[in-house]
Amino acid sequence: MSLQDDIARVLIPESVLQARVAELAQEINAAYSDQDRPLLVCVLKGAFMFLADLTRRLTIRHEVDFMETSSYGASTASSGVVRILLDLESNIEGRNVLIIEDIIDSGRTLDYITRNLRTRRPASLRVCTLLSKPARREIGVPVDFVGFEVPDEFVVGYGLDFAEEYRNLPFVGILKEEVYSQTSDVCKTSEV
Ligand code: IMP
Ligand code: MG
Repeated sequence: MSLQDDIARVLIPESVLQARVAELAQEINAAYSDQDRPLLVCVLKGAFMFLADLTRRLTIRHEVDFMETSSYGASTASSGVVRILLDLESNIEGRNVLIIEDIIDSGRTLDYITRNLRTRRPASLRVCTLLSKPARREIGVPVDFVGFEVPDEFVVGYGLDFAEEYRNLPFVGILKEEVYSQTSDVCKTSEV
């Protein structure tokens, strides 16, 4: 069984993803045209592929840095407890920071990250996410650039995983239900 056999349907084909990433890059080029070297903060692991495609489409001078977070799992996910597994290398004080996320679901991870980064006094802090699931939002977090709004389905591919697999798929797809039901709920929410 290949990875593709686990996909119920393709939600966002590769060509549509790539076209939208190019549009987002244009928006970001315009928004930061008069600002000094923004720092793109890629939230690992899910946003790695999005960042890689986005950064190649940017014409403005910029830097990239990485941060990895993890929630504590199903039982505590709704408490908003998020751990920083890998912190930024850069000092962001006085910098124009743009967070690059894969998907905003409840909003708790992004809420934690933005509150944490704001204490480091960046000159500006904005958010770009490839995907947003508005139906699942529990905490409102301002988002400046959104690739696609998606329905309340668990999606994988283009960096997004289920139990660490499927990140390499070049499209965003919905997993077959039997793939979920073989694994406990904890696996769906414990890795961020
Ligand atoms: P939030 O804290 O509930 O907003 O969850 C955000 C994180 O959960 C994302 O950065 C993803 O890593 C993960 N996540 C949420 N929904 C999905 C999904 O449909 N597929 C894969 N990962 C997801
Ligand atoms: Mg994940």
